[in-house]
Amino acid sequence: MAKQTTASSRPFFYPQAGAALHCGEVSIESLARRFGTPLYVYSGDQIAGRLGLFQQALAGREHLVCYAVKANSALAILRLLAARGAGFDIVSGGELQRVLAAAPEAASRVVFSGAGKTEAEIDLALQSGILQFNVESEAELKLLAARARKLKVRARFALRVNPDVFAETHPYISTGLSEHKFGIAIDRARAIYKEAANERWLEAHGVSVHIGSQIRSAGPFGAAVARVAGLVRTLRRAGIALKAIDAGGGLGIDYHALVATATQPVHAQKNGPCDATVKVAEYAAALEEALGGFDGRLLIEPGRFLVAPAGALVARVLYVKRNGKKTFVITDAAMNDLIRPALYQAWHEIAPVRPRAGRPRAVDVVGPVCESGDFFAHDRKLAPIAPGDLLTVLDAGAYGMAQSSNYNSRPRPAEALVEGAKARLIRRRETVADLLAPELL
Ligand code: LLP
Repeated sequence: MAKQTTASSRPFFYPQAGAALHCGEVSIESLARRFGTPLYVYSGDQIAGRLGLFQQALAGREHLVCYAVKANSALAILRLLAARGAGFDIVSGGELQRVLAAAPEAASRVVFSGAGKTEAEIDLALQSGILQFNVESEAELKLLAARARKLKVRARFALRVNPDVFAETHPYISTGLSEHKFGIAIDRARAIYKEAANERWLEAHGVSVHIGSQIRSAGPFGAAVARVAGLVRTLRRAGIALKAIDAGGGLGIDYHALVATATQPVHAQKNGPCDATVKVAEYAAALEEALGGFDGRLLIEPGRFLVAPAGALVARVLYVKRNGKKTFVITDAAMNDLIRPALYQAWHEIAPVRPRAGRPRAVDVVGPVCESGDFFAHDRKLAPIAPGDLLTVLDAGAYGMAQSSNYNSRPRPAEALVEGAKARLIRRRETVADLLAPELL
């Protein structure tokens, strides 16, 4: 059987003509039988492979890939990444506790981002000995200094600067302009570092920047890092030597890539397997050039790029119905399981697990939730579909389960991890009892 679980192509493909969709070596039908639907399926091999792409591209300098936990915080995925040397970018005490639960030894490889850290979260992070706090305001730095003094733990910090660089992406996930709530104006940063130098329990460790998410070209990353590297040179002249530059996350993926088949292997396609390797190489080269002579450590915080293509949401078709001119395919998965189409008008490829012969026609793929925002695709041309069929929503490994909810009192899906020829449950399906448990009458 053809194997296509490379780091660069999607792990979901049809291995032979007429065969059902597979995740690596495992058939999706067998996973749906074992674990039920809706079901998130992830390829551990691909996640590991993609981490390797960054690690190889940055091998020439001291670096740390800090996976952005928010993209997918499954403990099994955190453990898999930690075992391969990844660090973590967290944005809450909850995410820190996940890292501690999955891989306590990785605490020293954690950077803590976010504009609203609470005192309790800061304390937990100080006591856990994390690598760096990415500080987003002067008030936060004051609180950090006070807590570090109180706990007698030195706090390594980086200021998250706002580089005022525009990145072409969805407005909700663009963050690097001065009009956004993130970071500290780069012109203010120097004075703040100087002031912090008087504070015994603070260590000016680095500087960080993050300009947004789902950015497909390397240019904006280079522009932002160049600004940051300039600041680092200025600070060095003033006697403040920073050890790390954190370039943030944000490298995007191709949600429109075609699904590989036996007759059309992904190698033959535009944006095929080389695409991801090339993208990472371009990204690394842009950072390298922008860093100039900086000889410290480079941190990056990729989320989506590591996990999005490795995951799919598997759903079963409940009904197919016509309303006027439209045909609706109603699945057992819904917007509460994957909200990206509803929230960002995001486009996700939809692949039937066992495509039927016949003329493709345009359908809306929707869930059972009671609002018209509950859709995965509008007017999508798909092969004929019948009730009972399995469909997959691809590239759902990032910001899928992580942004799921219990809207309409729907228990969240189970999650399965595929490694080689083996698959295992990494999160059992929620039950209604789980949903009711915290409530009081
Ligand atoms: N670092 C920081 C400080 C971030 O705010 C983010 C994402 C990342 C790293 C990781 O970015 P990535 O490499 O995944 O692009 N829910 C949205 C995406 C929100 C991104 C928020 N910040 C979506 O589904 O498209």
